[in-house]
Amino acid sequence: MKYDFNQIINRKKTNCLKWDGISSYFECEDLLPLWVADMDFPVAQPIVDALKKRAAHPFYGYTLPGKGVIESVIDRMWKKFKWKIKPEWILFTPGVVPALHVTVRSLTQPGDEILLQEPVYHPFFGVVKNSGCHIINNPLKLVKGRYEMDYVNLESKFHKNTRRLKNKSRIKAIIFCNPHNPVGRVWEKEEIKKMGEIVIGNGAVVISDEIHCEILFKGYEHISFATISPEFEQNCIVCTSPSKTFNLAGLEVSAIIIPNDEIRERYINTQSGIVPLPNLFGYTALEVAYKQGDEWLEQVMSYLQENLEFLKKYFTSRIPQIKIIEPQGTYLIWLDCRELGLDNESLKDFMQHKARVGLEDGYIFGEKGSGFMRMNIACPRIILEQAAERIEKQVSLLKK
Ligand SMILES: Cc1ncc(COP(=O)(O)O)c(C=O)c1O
Repeated sequence: MKYDFNQIINRKKTNCLKWDGISSYFECEDLLPLWVADMDFPVAQPIVDALKKRAAHPFYGYTLPGKGVIESVIDRMWKKFKWKIKPEWILFTPGVVPALHVTVRSLTQPGDEILLQEPVYHPFFGVVKNSGCHIINNPLKLVKGRYEMDYVNLESKFHKNTRRLKNKSRIKAIIFCNPHNPVGRVWEKEEIKKMGEIVIGNGAVVISDEIHCEILFKGYEHISFATISPEFEQNCIVCTSPSKTFNLAGLEVSAIIIPNDEIRERYINTQSGIVPLPNLFGYTALEVAYKQGDEWLEQVMSYLQENLEFLKKYFTSRIPQIKIIEPQGTYLIWLDCRELGLDNESLKDFMQHKARVGLEDGYIFGEKGSGFMRMNIACPRIILEQAAERIEKQVSLLKK
């Protein structure tokens, strides 16, 4: 079927975080919300139909994932990423963020260290700190408009650490964002390989958050960390979910894939009784999304591609002071606003109170995010047009 993503469907008064949460997240109400990673597009019809069918059976008791759900994850990983996984490797949780908390706790003792590559999805900071661990930051480098990992600095973090602690590194893992939110990089095989060799070579584990793995712009391919080599596969935890790809965040379902028996055992023991399993509607949606969601996904991706082209053209020709960091994946666009010459508070005030657009402040993703803003482009084009016009108008006033 053909979906109409231009259609504006009112989401207000549905307890929707993106629209109804404006008043708690921002200081003013009448903003165009382009913040939290949630699409303003209705989900694929087969998912809606399956949920209605399941809801019509009036029993909502404790629910198993079921053979169909497990098979759908196995088939998806093979079909999309040529990763052959075993059923026992898959663990289900209501979300990737809770799984990251469990993962870090299962791999560390308080006082241990976890690597992050800022600017990065800000809940990672809480994951490390709430586990009693310290963040070791290996900042990404912005090289000719493209972010890259800093391998020399990464290696040096382990060496300094080992020297300081007399040959015993306390760096237990890296949380690798692949594709990367907020900078939109879809990491290439060689890049992943270099990073993985350093981390695994120094005895740490790679926690690969691959939640954005299917939101890829034309010409980009997602490489799952585990597919690089059997050694990589045995030293990683891959966190995936249909929630970003198919816009199902409220259904709370994700699949955590852990090939190594010992790491998996530790994860299970830490999760048990603390983080619940997903709810039954989440399982239903996951299975249908993975089995029947591709027609919808293709259409969403071509719409997002057009949104991106529109925005690039608009900013280049009319707001050249703000540069779009070319995204390769995710629908979250990283805007370099440094030329506006505003400090973080003034930039926040400018976007919120003057332009009246609800973006995510870059600095919340780490120090290197200062002067940047993150914009969610998964919305009907007319909303994006209005947002661009509002920003353009205010930028022109700024000059005067
Ligand atoms: C990189 C990344 N990981 C995790 C999440 C959230 O995952 P969940 O809602 O499954 O906890 C997001 C949401 O935007 C994200 O961008």
